Amino acid sequence: MSSILDSRPALREVIEQVAEVTGYLWQKGWAERNGGNITVNITEFADTEMAALPALAPAQPIGKTLPNLRGKFFYVKGTGKRMRDLARQPMQNGSVIRICPDCASYEIIADLPVMPTSELPSHLALQDYLLGTGSTYKATLHTHPIELVAMSHIQRFLRPGEMTRVLWSMIPETLAFAPLGIGIVPYKLPGSVELADATLEQIKEHDVVLWEKHGTVAVGTDIMDAFDQTDVLCKAANIYMCARSMGSEPDGMTPEAMREVQQVFHLPTKRPC
Ligand code: 13P
Ligand code: ZN
Repeated sequence: MSSILDSRPALREVIEQVAEVTGYLWQKGWAERNGGNITVNITEFADTEMAALPALAPAQPIGKTLPNLRGKFFYVKGTGKRMRDLARQPMQNGSVIRICPDCASYEIIADLPVMPTSELPSHLALQDYLLGTGSTYKATLHTHPIELVAMSHIQRFLRPGEMTRVLWSMIPETLAFAPLGIGIVPYKLPGSVELADATLEQIKEHDVVLWEKHGTVAVGTDIMDAFDQTDVLCKAANIYMCARSMGSEPDGMTPEAMREVQQVFHLPTKRPC
């Protein structure tokens, strides 16, 4: 079967990176069954031939109107598809969509009519925001990292700033590589527009957003970057849990030590473009 990737080696490389990352998600235990989803903005690869591809199925509503997405192209994981299957066959477990001129619906154009993820409203709301701010970020990742989801079951960690403070204090790299910390979205129905709206508000101020009792959402320059953002925070959560399982609350780095890292490394307090 022919693929949209056949004559586009640069696009193939992007999709191969997605496949590599989905393998990691499965290996980490973050992607049970069809858990998690991905979108990558691939508009830069849309030549005239790709732009002229016909829709493989009737246009579908996004659930939101997103003005910065008109005519943009995205690779998206298919709903119900497994990350571990996508790692082997990315174009059978995901598809390429084009946003319609109304900015409120999309068409699937390649390779197969695989229906996009149920979390499309959240992914596309973030993509719309990134484009609107002139960001170079292209990828969005939702996954189910065990330790971070476990922490979201404890009320104390849902208080503003509390989870960020604890995670930052576990290991200096967390502060260095996730300087904006983790934002919390109180539990909402998966796939809902309310969840998308709340996620958008939190990503403006944080590196990663945690959906209470569900999973994380990260953005990145590419999908590897979005994975790394999640991994850095999940590693800190894992260290916290390991220390707790040794029998006591970990001390954590002192506020002075954390301030020193922030100052010496000139860490940003706002999302970089
Ligand atoms: P999809 O299979 O629709 O991508 O859903 C997985 C998921 O994690 C929902 O939050
Ligand atoms: Zn999920």
